[in-house]
Amino acid sequence: MIKAVQALLRGAFDVAERGLDRLFGSQANPLAQLGALGYFLFWIVAASGFYVFALFDTGVTRAFDSVEWMSGSQWWHAGVMRSFHRYASDLMIVVMVLHLAREFALDRFRGARWFSWFTGIPLIAFLYVCGITGYWLVWDKLAQYIATTSTELLDWMPIFGEPIARNFLDPSALSDRFFTLLVFLHIAVPIVLLFVMWIHIQRISRPKVNPPRLLGAIVLVALLVVSLLMPALSQGPANLARIPSPVRLDSLYLVLYPFADRAPGAAWGALTAIGLILSIVPFLPPRRQPAPAKVFLDHCNGCGRCVDDCPYEALRLTRRTDGAVYQSEAIVDASKCVSCGICVGSCPSSTPFRRSQDLVTGIDLPDYPLARMRADLVAACAAMTSGPRVLAITCKYGGGASLRAGADLAVLELPCVAMAPPSLIDFALSRRHADGVAVIGCSERFCHNRLGVEWTRQRFAQERDPYLRTRVPRERLATIWTSSTETSTAKREVDALRARLSALPPPSSAPPPVASEPVRERTLS
Ligand code: HEM
Ligand code: SF4
Ligand code: SF4
Repeated sequence: MIKAVQALLRGAFDVAERGLDRLFGSQANPLAQLGALGYFLFWIVAASGFYVFALFDTGVTRAFDSVEWMSGSQWWHAGVMRSFHRYASDLMIVVMVLHLAREFALDRFRGARWFSWFTGIPLIAFLYVCGITGYWLVWDKLAQYIATTSTELLDWMPIFGEPIARNFLDPSALSDRFFTLLVFLHIAVPIVLLFVMWIHIQRISRPKVNPPRLLGAIVLVALLVVSLLMPALSQGPANLARIPSPVRLDSLYLVLYPFADRAPGAAWGALTAIGLILSIVPFLPPRRQPAPAKVFLDHCNGCGRCVDDCPYEALRLTRRTDGAVYQSEAIVDASKCVSCGICVGSCPSSTPFRRSQDLVTGIDLPDYPLARMRADLVAACAAMTSGPRVLAITCKYGGGASLRAGADLAVLELPCVAMAPPSLIDFALSRRHADGVAVIGCSERFCHNRLGVEWTRQRFAQERDPYLRTRVPRERLATIWTSSTETSTAKREVDALRARLSALPPPSSAPPPVASEPVRERTLS
């Protein structure tokens, strides 16, 4: 059931993202920047909120007039800021829901990844409280409707000694003190929200919290245009002597209100069910997680490349414990490791040219060690009977996952293409295991392991260690970035590589000398 929903959502996202790729390019595609957009919108809401608050009168009798004044004679600055505040808050809900759906569709919430998912859940609640208290502060008819419905909803639960809905039964009961409490909530909850947003990304290295400039500029211009064309306005002053009807509801923040109004008990039930479902999702089957990466001290010199490359903050360097001449050693935090294998690809000891029978590297995946990767590569390539022989190194989450081995195609599937050290490609070509290599990862806008595509690109461009050596003939290598639903792209590109290989002269028969990977200055990015 979960798998079917994920497949459906993934297909929908993929179609939308490919369309947006054409408009924005893969780097600025908004659907690939949802977390960063959430942060960006938060800052817009905070800045416009400060502006509006400076002109807002917090007294219950004067609040409405001060907001009217802003949207009336002061529309050109305060009114625009009010609209910015409202529309950026609305957009934040849209972005958050899409972000949740996308992380779910792409299966990035299980195992060690549970943390970001779990800490995302309170963000939903805090964002809603911020929005609802914001509407309440305007003290117009909509605010009155929100006040009565919210308090009836709260009173349904036996939390407060006295029913708080009484405060809204007649004008004399409503005090400035209650209103000040609302103002406090509307300022304090966003601070808590920001704190939880910070916790949310603590297990992610190099989190994207700023969208590309172009995307940021587009969002700002779009907000300005909407603010000028459809300024945020109030719905007439609140009047506790009358039932506020009809009111226009914000369909994002107040979506549950008509329901809560009629059946508060069922509304609580729905909220509890949503909370529970979201909380248990990361712990549902399949439960088995691959074993975390393991350090082999005899082969670790403490260079720190794996620490730089790990996308999930699962590695750090610590003081050497085995008396070796090196100062540091890598250490894995198993609770954060998602077993992507990127660290295996980073380690200078991961060189398949090593003659040792038992190929051991500095850091390895127990479930799929480097020695097995090399053996699988050799065996898969040996099974090819006709040429040009292409070795496809695929990521199991990208479009290459659908490729099947054949007479002229060997497939080596990895948890992430960045798990393959660049020397593995050198090994495959220089030892004549294959005539060409196609590295087929996830699409550029989405890497299941966040940084695998970026690191592979940088290693191949010799911008990041371990880099792909100059002697590797680039005309025999293809890098293909394609999503799991774009299966035909992977096949087409492999065919194109094969056609290119057919036109090349056969490689010289003498194999190049065997050399271990040269040690270069570390590249920190
Ligand atoms: C105010 C709302 C939110 C903001 C601003 C936000 C922001 C972010 C950011 C910046 C990242 C890091 C993206 C990257 O660099 O790869 C992230 C990751 C993530 N978020 Fe959110 N988020 C929000 C709400 C949520 C919610 C409601 C959920 C789900 C319940 C969620 C689930 C996740 C998950 C699972 C990841 C980690 C993906 C991975 O393992 O690579 N987020 N979020
Ligand atoms: S496999 Fe390596 S790179 Fe991937 S999360 Fe674990 S320690 Fe980090
Ligand atoms: S990359 Fe290899 S050698 Fe360097 S610290 Fe990590 S495990 Fe040790």
